[in-house]
Amino acid sequence: MGATLHDRAGVGFAVMTAPVDDRALLIVGGGRMGEALVSGLLASGRAAGDLVVAEVASSRRAELAEALPGVTIVAEPVPVGSAVLAVKPPDVPRVARRLAEAGARRLLSVAAGVTTGAIEHAAGRSLAVVRAMPNTPALVGAGAAAICAGSATSEKDLQWAEEILGAVGVVVRVSEAALDSVTGLSGSGPAYVFLVAEALVEAGVLDGLPREVAEALAYQTLLGSARMLVEGAGSPAALRAAVTSPGGTTAAGLRELERHGVRAAFLDAVTAAARRSRELGG
Ligand SMILES: NC(=O)c1ccc[n+]([C@@H]2O[C@H](COP(=O)([O-])OP(=O)(O)OC[C@H]3O[C@@H](n4cnc5c(N)ncnc54)[C@H](OP(=O)(O)O)[C@@H]3O)[C@@H](O)[C@H]2O)c1
Repeated sequence: MGATLHDRAGVGFAVMTAPVDDRALLIVGGGRMGEALVSGLLASGRAAGDLVVAEVASSRRAELAEALPGVTIVAEPVPVGSAVLAVKPPDVPRVARRLAEAGARRLLSVAAGVTTGAIEHAAGRSLAVVRAMPNTPALVGAGAAAICAGSATSEKDLQWAEEILGAVGVVVRVSEAALDSVTGLSGSGPAYVFLVAEALVEAGVLDGLPREVAEALAYQTLLGSARMLVEGAGSPAALRAAVTSPGGTTAAGLRELERHGVRAAFLDAVTAAARRSRELGG
């Protein structure tokens, strides 16, 4: 490790001159997403000794050292062949440049809104870039992520990224142009579902249920319904029809949801979020 530059207020950033470690995977940024990825990789059998987390905040480094035994926690990125960028979006270009200067050959970025082109440009030389849009359920190992390739990214690089993100949920491949739609659907999606959960709880309370009873029933209803979908019990329309008996209670409830335009509201919500993602990225 060589001299230290001070290009970020109060933060040293080493000029990396040591030999590149090809075995290690470096995760730069030990925030919520960085920690979730490392926890997922450990749970999926990755050796702790092969993982390195670079985190600028010393108090956070202490927390990570306790939460991730055996994982190397450092203040500054070390030279590696492969790295994950889990820092905040404005920090991505600088970190990408330093990793490229230190010999990195491929980067996976989970930063919202930073394009593969911007990362390649910041790197200043050709290297494989994979960009991902993950979502917050990755924090509990049930994420939904989409990935796209940069201009010098191979099938092997995409498989490498799928293995990392696959440790915390499902991963699909899309074109970079589709990432804004992904943001509108699964990136922002957890917030829509939390709103539905809130509304169901309030509705239960309004009809006389104790709040904790309404919460337990609403949350488990969402979990159980989602499990039926992902476990292949049927399409949403078929599953809905199966619980809707003629003239029954569910039909009465669904009529109200349709009368209030819930379906159209979701169409508008996803397209508005995707549009906003395009505006922010452009
Ligand atoms: N959380 C999510 O569910 C989610 C979903 C989709 C996408 N993402 C993306 O994932 C990225 C990380 O999000 P997050 O929620 O994990 O944010 P976060 O908790 O704020 O984590 C970012 C971490 O990186 C550290 N950091 C910044 N610059 C660094 C550097 N040069 N070297 C080492 N560490 C550095 C930050 O330290 P300081 O705070 O001290 O700067 C912070 O601890 C973001 O780009 C975000 O867009 C997150």
